[in-house]
Amino acid sequence: MSTHGVLNMPELRVDYMCPQVAAGFDLRGVVSPDRVERLAGLMEELLPRQAYLGTGKILDIGCGTGRFTIPFASRFPNFTVVGADKSSNMLEQAQQKHGAERVLWSVQDICNQDFDSASFDLVFVSDLLHHIANPLDAIRECKRVLRPGGWLLCKYGAMENIAQDPEHVFFPETVAVDAKRTPTQKQVGDWLELENFRYINSRTLREQTRISGADRLAAARAKSISVLHMIEQDHFDKGLEALGLYVEQNPNDPWLQEDPTTWTWGQR
Ligand SMILES: C[S@@+](CC[C@H](N)C(=O)[O-])C[C@H]1O[C@@H](n2cnc3c(N)ncnc32)[C@H](O)[C@@H]1O
Repeated sequence: MSTHGVLNMPELRVDYMCPQVAAGFDLRGVVSPDRVERLAGLMEELLPRQAYLGTGKILDIGCGTGRFTIPFASRFPNFTVVGADKSSNMLEQAQQKHGAERVLWSVQDICNQDFDSASFDLVFVSDLLHHIANPLDAIRECKRVLRPGGWLLCKYGAMENIAQDPEHVFFPETVAVDAKRTPTQKQVGDWLELENFRYINSRTLREQTRISGADRLAAARAKSISVLHMIEQDHFDKGLEALGLYVEQNPNDPWLQEDPTTWTWGQR
């Protein structure tokens, strides 16, 4: 069922409904206060002043285990923060966390949301677009739920940057898988433009996402990065061994602790 080590995509899309996948998801990376603050700083610039008066609403769609949602709810106490995801198991993990009670949780498909039109000031989409068969449907639906003047903020690993990260280097079969599903920065900007967003802008930065090389190895071993579910097991085993050796020999290499993150945002 495979060609050149790339398994058929529909068969092997990672199943976030699976309780084990949901339970292991947070191994994929630390969301440090610095990371939250960098995003919150941009959000603060974008959010309209009147939204601070108590009527403001922020949606984190595809919020997973609430890694960003819960800190955003503390950071923006005057706002209603909604965390939505298609997987109830991911939301269940989120709801067990400290601070989860500050968030309204909801099971939703990004392409077909139950929310009223024009109800949010900002919609945040982190690491989700590469899981969507037609990302334009998702972006259009996010636009629908945004108030006029509201902002869509997408955070993702752009293909041109992630190709050199440890997973793609040590598990080279992942490159072909991600090349089929992962957008470049230009593609995401083009999608927003096609949906008539204004003031489209992007920024790429390297952020610390792991506390150590050993941490990265543990995340790979648990397949907490979806693409590792999408290569054949013998390729996975070979890559894990090579990564393990590298981590053993270079435990403090900053490359093992960082990831390139791209933000693209635009106004409705
Ligand atoms: C890679 S995780 C990212 C989670 C979170 N945004 C983060 O950055 O930690 C992708 C998430 O998108 C969710 N998801 C996948 N397809 C979805 C859809 N059509 N609508 C809403 N959520 C979806 C998955 O259940 C999963 O929780």
